[in-house]
Amino acid sequence: MKPCILIADDSPLIHRIFGEQLETAGYPVIHAEDGMAAISSVLSHLPDLILLDVHMPKINGYQVCRLLKDNPDIYSIPIVMMTSKFSSSLDIVSDPRNWSFQIGADGYVDKDSVENIAESIKPFFTKGPKNKPQIPPKPMTEMEILTALSHLLDKQLYLDVTKLKELDDRKSAFVANVSHEFKSPLGAIKGYLTNLHLGVYGTVSEPQRQAVEAVSRVVDRLNRLVTDLLDLAQIEAGQLKLKKKPVSLGELIDEMLATYFLEIQKKEMKIVKDFTSDLPNIVGDKDRLMQVLINLFSNCLKYTPNKSTVTFRLKPEQHDLRLEVEDNGPGMSADYLERIFDKFERITTEKREGTGLGLPIARDIVVLHDGKIWAESNAGKGTKFVVVLPMGKGS
Ligand SMILES: Nc1ncnc2c1ncn2[C@@H]1O[C@H](COP(=O)(O)OP(=O)(O)OP(=O)(O)O)[C@@H](O)[C@H]1O
Ligand SMILES: [Mg+2]
Repeated sequence: MKPCILIADDSPLIHRIFGEQLETAGYPVIHAEDGMAAISSVLSHLPDLILLDVHMPKINGYQVCRLLKDNPDIYSIPIVMMTSKFSSSLDIVSDPRNWSFQIGADGYVDKDSVENIAESIKPFFTKGPKNKPQIPPKPMTEMEILTALSHLLDKQLYLDVTKLKELDDRKSAFVANVSHEFKSPLGAIKGYLTNLHLGVYGTVSEPQRQAVEAVSRVVDRLNRLVTDLLDLAQIEAGQLKLKKKPVSLGELIDEMLATYFLEIQKKEMKIVKDFTSDLPNIVGDKDRLMQVLINLFSNCLKYTPNKSTVTFRLKPEQHDLRLEVEDNGPGMSADYLERIFDKFERITTEKREGTGLGLPIARDIVVLHDGKIWAESNAGKGTKFVVVLPMGKGS
C-alpha cells in the first residue's frame, strides 16, 4: 500500500487539487483544515508524510512543525512546508524556505509552482529518519496542544535569551579587553605630553605649550571615555567586584567637592550641604561610590548655568541612607527621566562634552550596592537625583 499523506491547509481549493492529484497517484489522503486539526490527525492516523501549510488559523504551520518535531514519537515523519505567494505573509518570516528548514521541516514546496504534488513530494520520503512509530501516540486535546506549544515557546525563548546573553557577555568581554588595551598607550602618551609641558625635552615655546595642552585635554577626554567603557563592560560581564568597607557618605561628598574647588569657584556655584556629621555609615566600595558622586556632580557642573545652586542632602530612612543631589538648572521633562539612565542617551541640545555613560554607570554601581537611583525633575525647575543605599551590617 502507498504511503498515507496528510494535507493540512485552510484552503479548500488546495485540499481539492492536491487531494485529487495524490489519490490519482494512489496515495491515501487525510485532510486537516487548521493547525490544531493537523496535530490531532497526525497523532491519531500517523501519516507517512505531512504537507503543512504555513499560514493557517489557530496555530500556524511553523508552530505545528515545531511541536511535531519536538515529539519523539513522531519527529521522524517527513514534514513538507507549503506557502503561496498569494497568501498573507507572516511578518516574522522573510524567507519561508529558509525558515522552514530552521524549524526542522524536511522539505518545502511553493504551492503556486507545483504542477503535480504527487511528483513533488517523492524526494521527501527519503529525507526524514526512517523509524516511523508503529503504535499511534496518545491523542492530545486542544488544551494539551496549546500547553505543549506554550512550553515549547518558553523553551525556545529560554534558549534564545541564553544565546543572546552569551553573545552579550562576549561583546562586553571584547569591549573590556579593547578598552584595557587602550589604557596603557594612552597613559604613555599622557606621560610624554606632561614631560614636554614641563620642558623635560627642552624649552617649549608658547604656541607649542598651547598645542601640548590642547592634545593633553583630548587625551584626558579619551581616557575618561575608555575608563567608562571599561567600567561598563566589566559591570555587564559581572567582573566588577566591590571592595566593601564602612563609608561615610558625608565625608565622601566633602572629599569630592574639594577636588572640584576650582570649577565650583569658576562657575560661582553655590553648594548647600543639608546633612549632619553624625550620620551612620553605609557599607560600600568607597571608590565606586565616589564615582557615583562625581558622575552626578559633574552633570550639575555641565548642565546648569553659572551661579546655580547644588544641594546635597543625606537622610537616614529605616535601613537605608537617602542621598539627594539637587540643582536648580534647566531640568528635564518626564519623558527623559528614565531614558537618561540608558547607555549613550543624551538629551542636551547644547554641545557639551560627554558620551552618555555617566548615569548608566552610576546606576549600575548603585544597583551593585543593592540600592536604587532615580531622577525627579520638571523642565525649567532643576533636577534632583535620589540615591537610596542600604546601610548594611557594620554601619
Ligand atoms: N543635572 C542635570 N541637569 C540637566 N540634565 C541632566 C543632568 N544630569 C544629566 N542630564 C542629562 O542626562 C544626560 C545623560 O547624562 P550622563 O551623565 O549619563 O551622560 P553625559 O553627561 O551626557 O556624558 P558622560 O557622563 O558620559 O560624560 C545628559 O546628556 C543630560 O542631557
Ligand atoms: Mg555625565
